[in-house]
Amino acid sequence: MQNVEEAIRLLTEGEVVAIPTETVYGLACNALNINAVSKVFEIKNRPSFDPLIVHISSLNEVEKYAVYFPDPARKLASRFWPGPLTLILPKKGIIPDMVTSGLEYVGLRVPNHSLSLELLKNLPFPLAAPSANPFGYVSPTTANHVKDQLGTKIPLILDGGPSVVGLESTIVMFRENSPPELLRLGGISADSIRDLIGEIKVNIASHSKPHSPGKLDKHYATTTPFRWYSKSFDINSDGSRCGALVFKDHLKGIPKENQIVLSESGDVNEAARNLFSSMRALDKRNFSVIYAGDFPQSGLGAAINDRLGRAIH
Ligand code: TXA
Ligand code: MG
Repeated sequence: MQNVEEAIRLLTEGEVVAIPTETVYGLACNALNINAVSKVFEIKNRPSFDPLIVHISSLNEVEKYAVYFPDPARKLASRFWPGPLTLILPKKGIIPDMVTSGLEYVGLRVPNHSLSLELLKNLPFPLAAPSANPFGYVSPTTANHVKDQLGTKIPLILDGGPSVVGLESTIVMFRENSPPELLRLGGISADSIRDLIGEIKVNIASHSKPHSPGKLDKHYATTTPFRWYSKSFDINSDGSRCGALVFKDHLKGIPKENQIVLSESGDVNEAARNLFSSMRALDKRNFSVIYAGDFPQSGLGAAINDRLGRAIH
């Protein structure tokens, strides 16, 4: 694996490398090297108040970076790692403040992708990695998505094929003396979390000063205006310049060739996997507006609706 060796060399030298994960591609660097971390913020044009997730190779590494790892968090990690779950835990001093944007908490995740796991197992440090898109744009689910936007800014993109989940990780925060909170819907449904640790406070609304800036209202956005179909489409208008992103059935009033169906069989997991690449594909077609159809709320549907809602503008 020539490229993995190259990635190991670059990361060890403090460079930034795009890596595949099962959720979305990440823009990775040595989480313990603040020069490398500052490059990630710069390349992504990410505000310094938006903390990065730290990727580790296994559950056994949590205690190197977190001072508190309560039983329910351990239970979630044992069940869902490697996988699309990020745990926010009180951090140890070894994690630079720049990574956590000054917060006393660090986001930890074991990604479920063979190439990334191979990197993590062979490196003596964890990898800080936000999604590999310019800040505010749709997350990348293929190496080509990364190349399109950041190709000239980074020395290597590890191609691990299309991301199989297609939505970012679900984020759960554990603080001493307070109940766990769900901060971001993602690749693991809220119900799957509840099944394991019981009722959980959901805190995903956007605020001006969010705990988790992925909750900012406008995020995951296309360049083309993006609207909900049911609320804003005028059935008498000319649909030829409109695009649409739909779950399973085409929308009325817009030519079929302008529409992308995310799952003909009505499978929300398939829809999640196709969501971001389809938003990107529609965004390239110079429509005057893209409409999002009606998506179910069940399973990953809630996270899909969350991302669509934040892309509306
Ligand atoms: O699936 C994922 O989580 C992907 C892959 C690459 O692992 N990463 C990802 O990173 O989505 P990013 O940076 O695009 O989104 C991470 C979210 C941000 O909204 C950030 O605010 C939140 O996680 N976050 C990270 N560390 C945090 C912390 N210490 N406290 C609260 N929120 C945190
Ligand atoms: Mg992101």
